[in-house]
Formats: sequence, structure tokens, C-alpha cells
Amino acid sequence: MESVDAFVRFLHILTVVFMAAPLYSLIIVNERALFSPQMVYQVDRYMETMVGKNALRCYIFQLTALLTGLWLVWKLGWHWNAILVLKLLLLFVLMALLSVVHLRIQPKIEKLFSQVTCDPVPQEIAAQIKPLRLFRKRLAATCLFLMIATVLLGLQVFSPFPLLANLLILALAGLFSTRAFTKPLRLGWW
Ligand code: HEM
Repeated sequence: MESVDAFVRFLHILTVVFMAAPLYSLIIVNERALFSPQMVYQVDRYMETMVGKNALRCYIFQLTALLTGLWLVWKLGWHWNAILVLKLLLLFVLMALLSVVHLRIQPKIEKLFSQVTCDPVPQEIAAQIKPLRLFRKRLAATCLFLMIATVLLGLQVFSPFPLLANLLILALAGLFSTRAFTKPLRLGWW
């Protein structure tokens, strides 16, 4: 049984690695912006497919984090503390933000895109897609920040770090998420 618990713990951490989608989506859209200021049908269609189809993957990884997390809490005697409750709430917020993208923003973008089949992309359609993409990008940067915050909490389930250390790391996470919002992070951290 101990090896099952160890495997679930491994799965919990591995899932967190696979939940890096917001970071890589931001890198993709920032590289896209540098490629050309105008919309290019094939390029933008491909990007929308990549970003749009990520949602199902994200739901599955979020669900895995939830189920493995609940398993771990159960195995640890179902003793909920403030950190665990906060982690659970943050996961629900991440699920809600993903749902806003998947159920509200993406269908609008797809509907607009379905009216285009080749270049040039009509100006009035590009103008409507632009603010939707910007909103989606803001949400992705927010998700990235919340993900980092949840990882930070994951390391403090049993022994919290000093408050100052938390604030400092959160400030760095904010800086990194803001940078990922604006640049393609070609140097990884920068
Ligand atoms: C986005 C969601 C989540 C992320 C990013 C995340 C991340 C992490 C990380 C990085 C660890 C540290 C593992 C270690 O070093 O031992 C951890 C541990 C843990 N997480 Fe999560 N977690 C998430 C959701 C949850 C949820 C929803 C629960 C429970 C309701 C949960 C319960 C736990 C428990 C109990 C541990 C301690 C496991 C141990 O050390 O034995 N997690 N989490």
C-alpha cells in the first residue's frame, strides 16, 4: 500500500509539471505577435487550434491534481489545515478561469474565425478577435501566477515558510507572470 501512496504522490507532482500550459500558451502567443502584426490565416488557425485544444488537457490535469490531492489528504488522516483549504480553493479558481476561456472566449473566437477561409483576414473580423485574445492572454497570465502560488503552498502543507519568504516569492512570481505576459521568455526566466 505504501508504494501506491508513493505513486499517487509522484502523480500529484508530475501533474503539476504538466499544468504548465499557461506559460507555454503565453510563449506561443508572444512569438506569434512577433511573427507579423497582421493576422495570417494559416498561422492564426494553427495557433487557435493549439490553444483551443489545450483546454481538455488542462481539465484532465486539474482533475488529476484534485483526485491525487484528495487521496493524499485522506491518507494523511483527513486533517485539513488552512494551507490545504487554500490549495483546494486555488484549484477551483484555476478551473473557473479555464472554463471562462473554454466556454466563453474560445467559442467567440472560433465563431469569428469560421467566417474566414483564406488571406487576407477581413479587418473587421481581426478587430473583433483582438480584444478577445487580449482578455484570454490576461487570464493565462493570472493562471500562471496562481499555479506558482499553489506550488508554493504545496511545499508548506506540513511546515509553513516565514511570511516574508512567502511574500518575496509571490512578488517574484508576479514579476515572472508579468514578464511572460509581454515577452516570449527566450532566456527561460527572462
Ligand atoms: C493546482 C493544484 C495543485 C498544485 C499545483 C499542487 C502542488 C503540490 C506540490 C508541489 C506539492 C509538494 C509535494 C512534496 O514535495 O511533497 C503538493 C503536496 C500536497 N498536496 Fe498539492 N497541489 C495542488 C492541489 C492539491 C489539492 C486540491 C489538494 C487536496 C485537496 C492537495 C493536497 C496536497 C497534499 C496533502 C500534499 C502533501 C503530500 C505529501 O507531502 O505527502 N493538493 N502539492
